[in-house]
Amino acid sequence: MAARTIRLASTGIWLPAKVLTNADLEQMVDTSNEWILERTGIRERRIAGDEVGVAQMGCYAAQNALEEAGLAPSDVDALIVSTATPDRLLPATACDVQAMLGADRAVAFDVGGACSGWLYALSVAHGLIAAGQIETALCVAPEKMSAITDWRDRATCVLFGDAAGAAVVVPSEEEGRGVLASYMRSDGTLAELLYRPPASTEVPVDVAEIVMRDGYIRMAGREVFKAAVRSMCEAVDAVLEQAGISKDEVDLLIPHQANIRIIEATAKYAGVPLERVWVNVDRYGNTSSASVPVSLHEAREAGLIRDGSLILMVTFGAGFTWAAMLLRW
Ligand code: UT7
Repeated sequence: MAARTIRLASTGIWLPAKVLTNADLEQMVDTSNEWILERTGIRERRIAGDEVGVAQMGCYAAQNALEEAGLAPSDVDALIVSTATPDRLLPATACDVQAMLGADRAVAFDVGGACSGWLYALSVAHGLIAAGQIETALCVAPEKMSAITDWRDRATCVLFGDAAGAAVVVPSEEEGRGVLASYMRSDGTLAELLYRPPASTEVPVDVAEIVMRDGYIRMAGREVFKAAVRSMCEAVDAVLEQAGISKDEVDLLIPHQANIRIIEATAKYAGVPLERVWVNVDRYGNTSSASVPVSLHEAREAGLIRDGSLILMVTFGAGFTWAAMLLRW
């Protein structure tokens, strides 16, 4: 008997109201709308203020997803959070989301996969459901990238934005529906190309305090760019091969939204024309692991996903981490 697979019963998002445009950034650092648009495809991004924390953002997206699924917080067996920007290092952000949400029956924990984190979370949920350990998971990706962005560094501050996405995950009752294949990889030898100091708890306490003041994201953009394209193409091939599905059968490609040029290169490789690729990097910038669930939700709202649609999600992020998932809606 084949192992149980999963489907997404619903999706949910939360976006801050505040918009930061390229014109706003021109007032903050030595940059231009033309440079940002041409090199990244980003026009504007959303910024969550001090009044909302990462766990709260996750809670809002989770409530949105639970509502669509017609479930109560107490129906959730596992609450899995992916975030690169926790409000605090201990406890897991998932526990704070659990308390706010009132998901009192759930086991709550985080997975750390940076921009690939939400697909990692889905895969963990898949494993728990396939093993019969749980029936209902809630995978949540709240990201407040503005909190770890150095607003004086033009090389990074134009790239990121804040958002939260979520999905309710349940067993698939129908053969051939739900997750058809998934692929996850990491390469920790390349961690120094994209990271946020302090690197570890090995830093002595007094030094840690100094370093924390410089706890902003650092990235070797060009190297990350090349690795992102290469890895996302590899992940596309891997899931299609696993599922025995050809490129032209894909109805919608949902790539991680970091840069329009990376999205276009991945789409070209996957053989999916741009009208079947979800793009919102222009409106939100790079929202790390929130980017795929937010895109999925928006694509559903736009009517691009119907029963039976074949969706290919693919991500790349710090670690390096990369992943893909093929889903028959
Ligand atoms: O989510 C995780 C995955 N992250 C990514 O996938 C990001 C991958 N990387 C990228 O998207 C691109 O590498 C960037 C958008 C970050 C940078 O684009 P690039 O075409 O690779 O530019 P670059 O870093 O090679 O810089 C080109 C020039 C430099 O000037 P010089 O040395 O040629 O004189 C930079 O100083 O552009 C300059 N520059 C800027 N100019 C105006 C860098 N940032 C800016 C800026 N405004 N904001």
